[in-house]
Amino acid sequence: MKKALFPALLMLGAWAQSPLAPAADEAGRLNGLWNLILGICAGVYVLVLLFLGWALWRNRRRLDALPPPQPDERGLRLGLTAWAAFITLGLTVIAGASFLVDRSLAASHPGEVLQVRVTGQQWWWRVQYRTPSGGWIETANEVHLPLNRPARIEVATTDVIHSFWIPNLAGKQDTIPGRINTLFATPRRTGWFRGQCAEFCGLQHAQMALDVKVETAQAFDAWLADQARASGPPADPVAMRGQQIVTTQTCSQCHSVRGTMAQGRAAPDLTHVASRRSLAAGTLPFNRGALMGWITQPQASKPGAEMPPSGLAPADALAVVHYLEGLT
Ligand code: CUA
Repeated sequence: MKKALFPALLMLGAWAQSPLAPAADEAGRLNGLWNLILGICAGVYVLVLLFLGWALWRNRRRLDALPPPQPDERGLRLGLTAWAAFITLGLTVIAGASFLVDRSLAASHPGEVLQVRVTGQQWWWRVQYRTPSGGWIETANEVHLPLNRPARIEVATTDVIHSFWIPNLAGKQDTIPGRINTLFATPRRTGWFRGQCAEFCGLQHAQMALDVKVETAQAFDAWLADQARASGPPADPVAMRGQQIVTTQTCSQCHSVRGTMAQGRAAPDLTHVASRRSLAAGTLPFNRGALMGWITQPQASKPGAEMPPSGLAPADALAVVHYLEGLT
C-alpha cells in the first residue's frame, strides 16, 4: 500500500511540473497539439478494435464449421482504399499541425520582451537577467517571470548538453556547447512551477531542477530590483564571523556574494541565496538544517557534485549558516 502511495503522491506533486496543465501560451499550443494527436490516435485505435470485434462476431462459429471463404474483391478493395485514405489524412493533419505549432513557437515576439539567460552547468542553473539599464544581474536555480509579458530565454551551457524544460510554460530546449538557443515563454497564470534538466548530463542529472515563479509584473519588477542590490552588512557578530569565513576561505574561490570580496564565478551566486526556495538546484528545501548539511557534507545529498565538504569546525559552520540565512 505504502509503495503505491508514494508514486501516486509524486504524480499529484508533478502537476506543478506537467505539460498537461499549461500556464503559458507556448505550453498551451503544445498541449493543443498533444490533444489533437491523442484524439486522432485514439480514434484509429477505437476503429481498429471495432473492426476486429466485428470480424470476430461475424465469424463466431467454430472455424471448421465455416464455409470456404468467398472473397468479395470489390468490397475488400474499397475498404482498404478508404482505410489508407483515412490514415493518410490523419498523418497529414498531424504533420501539418506539428509544423504550424513549431513555426509559431520559433516566431519572434512583438511587444515588450524580457531577456533572461540560463546556463546549464553540472548540476545547476546559472540565471541572468538583463536589467532595464542594460546591465546583467545574476542568481541561480530560480527563475522569476512576469505575468503576461513575453520572456525571451536564451539557454547555454559551459560543459555538456543539458535540456532546459519548464513543462507548464514551454517546450524543451537543449543547451549545446558553443551555441545559444532561444525559447519564449508568455506566462498566463501565477504560481510556482518546477523545471527540470531533460537530457542525461551525468551523475546528478535527476537533481538538476529549477524553481520557477510566475508573478504579477509589479511583484516581478520589485523582485528584480531587490536581486540587483548588493548584499548588506552582517547583522550581528556571528554573521560577521560567517561572512569572514565565506569571503576569505575556500567558499569565495567558487561563489560570489556581491558587495563582498567573494567573487568566484564557478558556482552559484549567493548574494540573495536566502531569498530562494531551495538549495543545490532543487535538491533540498532552503532551511537551516539543510543548509548545515549541505555546506558540511554536500556529497551526502548530491554525490558527485562539484562542491567539496567545507571542513569547517561546527561553530564556524554554524556562523556560515547564520550569515547565509541573512542573505535575503
Ligand atoms: Cu543537466 Cu541533465
